[in-house]
Amino acid sequence: MNILLIGSGGREHALAWKLASSPLCSRLIAAPGNPGIAEHAECVSVQADDVEGLVALAQDRKIDFVVPGPEVPLVLGLADRLRAIGIPVFGPSQAAARLEGSKGFMKDLCAKYDIPTAAYARFTDVAKARAFIEKTGAPIVVKADGLAAGKGVVVAQSVEEACQAADSMLSAPGASIVVEQFLDGEEVSYFALTDGRTVLPFASAQDHKRVFDGDEGPNTGGMGAYSPAHLMTPYLEAKILERIVWPTVDAMAAEGCPFSGVLYAGVMVCNGEPYLLEYNVRFGDPECQPIMMRLDSDIVPVLLASAQGRLAEVKPSDLVWSYDPALCVVMAAKGYPGSYVRGGKITGIDAAQALSGVRVFHAGTARGADGALIAHGGRVLGGSARGETIARAQSRAYEAVDTIVWADGFCRRDIGWRAVAEQRDRAAARSGRGGA
Ligand code: AMP
Ligand code: GLY
Repeated sequence: MNILLIGSGGREHALAWKLASSPLCSRLIAAPGNPGIAEHAECVSVQADDVEGLVALAQDRKIDFVVPGPEVPLVLGLADRLRAIGIPVFGPSQAAARLEGSKGFMKDLCAKYDIPTAAYARFTDVAKARAFIEKTGAPIVVKADGLAAGKGVVVAQSVEEACQAADSMLSAPGASIVVEQFLDGEEVSYFALTDGRTVLPFASAQDHKRVFDGDEGPNTGGMGAYSPAHLMTPYLEAKILERIVWPTVDAMAAEGCPFSGVLYAGVMVCNGEPYLLEYNVRFGDPECQPIMMRLDSDIVPVLLASAQGRLAEVKPSDLVWSYDPALCVVMAAKGYPGSYVRGGKITGIDAAQALSGVRVFHAGTARGADGALIAHGGRVLGGSARGETIARAQSRAYEAVDTIVWADGFCRRDIGWRAVAEQRDRAAARSGRGGA
């Protein structure tokens, strides 16, 4: 089967590595890919937002199956275009991609179908938004209604900060915002595959969105992640599936825009109860990196079953997960998520990958004129590792990151800290009991 993978980040490198290992994949083409992806695929320079170019590429190269990594082509309607010419694609139609593309659409759907989420109101008018914020008080959350690459959300600690965010987000013509209740809890990322009718529970992860250790500093696309999330008990997973994922899949079908692909629910867990913070219509990055490292079975049959409406034929036992958790540490360019320099040389990746249980995924790299690997983005590499325990996966991922030589890079030093602390507490409780 000829497979076309779209995108160029760490998520796509992890997907490329997994797709290329499938016996069903005879040829993998990536558009546009990156130097890491080039180790598993032929990279073609068509950008992820170039819908016309991607459709032409799929036809030209006789592609049998398309796997988009990022949301942008889906929100632009790529899946509709490919389906119209008979090419299966793993991902939602343009109408269904509104779950990620429009916060207002997502919130209205939750309200209509009783899906637990933060209370909210939508505004296009600054004065009305200000009046609502003043009446509600802080903390309060202000969100731009549209794709904003993780930068369209302000969790405001004061009424003034929230009003300023509303002012600035509504300053663009035609802009609209969602103002919502602040939820105090712990976040998890939950991933389910669906074909619009059936749901296949997939995986959980915990992302680290703030740029600095201890969850300080501005939000980023994600500075590291591990899987499974330490909070994710079978009971919590069942609640997320029953109250959030299944009702959404049914609601989208009832609204005439069935959702297929991966439904990524950003969930806030408050006193053991899950509330939907946001939906994404694609895998998370970096979450996809540890998730792919944990998946021991072939990914192609399940993604294809979702694309072809055959998910009911897939048994949960067709997904084989490692018992070992996995963890990914993102190496970013100093200055990220603000401005940063590009072009710095990177070495040591082979040495890092020679470490047991380690893979290094490329997120923002390029080849310099001399062929040397250079930094070419904000998030540049993902040092990912599996381990028998989360602490072991963490120490291996940091060993990998510390083996890589890149003067302009930095990383958080505490990825997975909640899970590692919980593991330590459990071990202490056991040894306490043993000693008594
Ligand atoms: P979103 O893009 O909607 O997931 O928001 C980005 C981040 O803002 C989330 O990962 C949360 O950390 C935070 N956030 C969003 N909505 C809320 C909320 N209602 N209460 C508390 N934090 C939130
Ligand atoms: N890691 C967050 C995201 O992919 O949206």
